[in-house]
Amino acid sequence: MAGLGTRHAPSFRLISAHFALGLVGMLGFAAALLWRGAAVEGHFFQPTLLGLTHLCVLGWLVPVAIGAMHQLIPVVFEVPVRSERLAWLAFALYVPGALGFMTRLWAFDLGWLFIISAGLLVTAIILYAVNLLATLARAAHVSLTGAYVIAALGYLMLAACLGFALAYNLHRPYLYIDHVRVLRAHAHAAGLGFFGLLVMGVAYRLLEMFLLSHVSALGPGWVALGALNLALAALLTNFVFGQVAVLTWFGVLAALVGVAAFLLQVRRLYRARIKRSTDAAWLHSLAAFGYLALAAAVGAAIALAGRPEALRQRLELGYAVLFLPGFVGSIVVGQLYKIVPFLIWFHRFSAYVGLKKVPSASELLAPRPQWAQLGLMHAGLALLAAGVVAPSAPARLAGALLFAASAALHARNLGVLYRRRP
Ligand code: HEM
Repeated sequence: MAGLGTRHAPSFRLISAHFALGLVGMLGFAAALLWRGAAVEGHFFQPTLLGLTHLCVLGWLVPVAIGAMHQLIPVVFEVPVRSERLAWLAFALYVPGALGFMTRLWAFDLGWLFIISAGLLVTAIILYAVNLLATLARAAHVSLTGAYVIAALGYLMLAACLGFALAYNLHRPYLYIDHVRVLRAHAHAAGLGFFGLLVMGVAYRLLEMFLLSHVSALGPGWVALGALNLALAALLTNFVFGQVAVLTWFGVLAALVGVAAFLLQVRRLYRARIKRSTDAAWLHSLAAFGYLALAAAVGAAIALAGRPEALRQRLELGYAVLFLPGFVGSIVVGQLYKIVPFLIWFHRFSAYVGLKKVPSASELLAPRPQWAQLGLMHAGLALLAAGVVAPSAPARLAGALLFAASAALHARNLGVLYRRRP
């Protein structure tokens, strides 16, 4: 844990602002799921689903991921953030951009406000990515984690640019190919390219820190990186330029090899761990790896199996639930239970060590509310995914209810942490 805070870390306010935004986004997404959970069915291209997806990713997952990268990159690579001012500027553009974009997309009001918001959003994302890449460029050497993060930031910029191109097409149609082709490329560049590679790359480092584990043979980690990049190259090209069966097969196979190699590397780290006790954060990570394996299987079934259109639509929605709130959301929630206590401890308690009795970072929040939140969240997500694929509106609503309770408890738990003082 001591590895999380050093003199290179940026201000506590910058990280807290991103985490607070992400928490508000999670609560908003949970409320929206409760409100519109019954309508999560049919083809994915419809205003409600577009709005819900972007509320989940732009409201909740991206702000936490960006905040965590600003904390972890300087610490892991021992270089300060290239420009904290630029990060604040990006934040100032991101908030109105994301809000305007999500609400206008949901209302399917595609006028000037929509396109200006999309412009602010893409500018903010590019500023964040360039600033973080410039930070990494100063590092003495690029480790396995660094290579994943660089690739992930490249895909984030690609996804945001494709998103803007799609938004402009909705505002003033100009694409001469079916926009759904570009949409699939956008969603995979963002989902697998950005979130997938980022979570995997950072997971190697965080598992080392939190499980006190060290493995010098990183072969499967590098194989996963190579295979996933090949998969993305094949799939993105194929989505946009045509349906060449051999490219689909190759892309799916490479993606499956990549996911399997990643899970193998995680297993090695887990086996070499010194810390034996398990906590809620670790179980969130285990659940995330389960969602990832399931999403990979469902994705392969969608790409390769012959099936009726109605089943395909249900599988596509199930795929999105498993991957976004399932895989990425579980990692985000679990890691906040590690990063936030440490930051509160580091900034408020560490100065008193040796002067008076100080609790450790892991003692700042009792375990029971963390376990309760874990149970509610995964029961909710499992019901939600089952209700989408089955399909069953009551199961989706019950899932949304449990997920909303878990989001409220997560907010309460982080609130307790933020109020802790020596
Ligand atoms: C980085 C995280 C992002 C993820 C994971 C993501 C994911 C997705 C997914 C899964 C869909 C299609 C299905 C649906 O929701 O119904 C979609 C569609 C879309 N996204 Fe995103 N997105 C992200 C960021 C963005 C950004 C930054 C923009 C704009 C600047 C954007 C613009 C769009 C548009 C306009 C569509 C509809 C496409 C069409 O007209 O066919 N997205 N996105």
